[in-house]
Amino acid sequence: MDGEPKRAHIVTFGCQMNESDSELMAGLLEGMGYECTDALDRADVILLNTCCVRETAENKVWGLLGRLKKLKHDRPDLIIGVSGCMPQQAGVPADIKRRFPHVDLVLGTHNRHELPDMITRIRSQRVRVHEVWEAAETLPEGLPVRRQGGIRAWVPVIHGCNNFCTYCIVPFVRGRERSRRPESVVEEVRALVKQGYREVTLLGQNVNSYGKDLGNGVDFANLLYLLNEIEGLWRVRYMTSHPRDFNDRLIEAVAACEKVCENFHLPAQAGSNQVLRRMNRGYTREYYLDTVHSIRAKISEAGLSTDLMVGFPGETEDDFAQTLDLVRQVRYDQAFTFVYNPRRGTPAAGMPEQVPDAVKSQRIQELIALQKEISLENNRLSEGSVLEVLVEGTAEDKPGVLTGRCRTNKQVAFPGSEERIGRLVRVAIDKAHLAFLSGHED
Ligand code: SAM
Ligand code: SF4
Ligand code: F3S
Repeated sequence: MDGEPKRAHIVTFGCQMNESDSELMAGLLEGMGYECTDALDRADVILLNTCCVRETAENKVWGLLGRLKKLKHDRPDLIIGVSGCMPQQAGVPADIKRRFPHVDLVLGTHNRHELPDMITRIRSQRVRVHEVWEAAETLPEGLPVRRQGGIRAWVPVIHGCNNFCTYCIVPFVRGRERSRRPESVVEEVRALVKQGYREVTLLGQNVNSYGKDLGNGVDFANLLYLLNEIEGLWRVRYMTSHPRDFNDRLIEAVAACEKVCENFHLPAQAGSNQVLRRMNRGYTREYYLDTVHSIRAKISEAGLSTDLMVGFPGETEDDFAQTLDLVRQVRYDQAFTFVYNPRRGTPAAGMPEQVPDAVKSQRIQELIALQKEISLENNRLSEGSVLEVLVEGTAEDKPGVLTGRCRTNKQVAFPGSEERIGRLVRVAIDKAHLAFLSGHED
């Protein structure tokens, strides 16, 4: 109805980079006068910001698009859009056009900033607008961002990926590495601190490549030193580090910069050299273990997390046993575990010896069970200690209980009043649980 504000609803799938893109597109929509709403059925624009890293992520999108057909039928003025990684795959925009004619808008990762212009065209010309750029040299700076929460913020520092791990679709849908200029990152973080944000997480598929394309001598360690100088900022995190490009300069920077948290997310993927080679990961098991050793030698309290995959083509029982053994040796605090899923157009999808589903399923269960044991044992080591927690909010289901994270990124819960939200609080840990620690204010 004229005069009433229009509403937009964004559904985000996939990784933090997509979360961050959704915040940007929400900012662009607000700039057009839209209010963001949690109620999908009351929205005038519904945007699905998609992921294609595994088939399960894609299926969720296809299912939701099917269900939205009726909503569009009842309200023809509703704009339904698909953005993100899925439309960057060859054939997907055509599939959407054919199977889901109620989708008005399709855009990709490289032209997300075109969203306002595309919506204006749809409204004024009553047409469908499907436009996906194949690549973008640079991404525009200074666009409005509507962020979730007021304490922690995502800040992308490098877009794209040059690594081409043989199982992974990301380099195909996100393009080549493009670093943001350090001045732009610093300016954005300064502005965030002025708005009250206290923690930033720097995002990139491989943050260790940061700066290589800039040609100004600034690397990721330099960026950390620059951000560490920002007054009013309390914590800096980053993800993800590729083990191959991880170096001592970065460990030294983390040790030297008091704002940079001692948490290392270092995806191993597999413990067998044979599998690592066929994955094109560019490091060996021995190199990986050396890196872990160097981190722990310099920063004894370091937290370590990882991504692991089971069922890569040709993975034998012995290969899998080596992944279990790596987990036992490193003793990660947390591991994100995945079953290999063939992605069209990636080299691994065409490799012989695809592992049967039943074997994959048995291996992932074994891996998860082992990691759970280790996570709980590691968490128990914190019992009796005092941790610095940045309080983010209240527990959803427990009134009077606050939650936040310690420097090594473990979730901590403790009783307290809401005026503690947004503060750094020292919490004495009483009890370890599998996914969090509980305690009381020291
Ligand atoms: N850039 C990060 C890195 O190199 O570790 C990870 C990005 S990817 C979005 C996150 C994780 O998804 C990967 O670490 C990998 O374990 C998993 N992944 C990627 N492609 C996959 C596939 N085809 N099947 C199963 N898991 C996959
Ligand atoms: Fe994918 Fe490998 Fe790039 Fe990570 S480094 S996004 S796993 S290709
Ligand atoms: Fe998915 Fe794209 Fe991220 S494929 S994991 S949303 S970069």
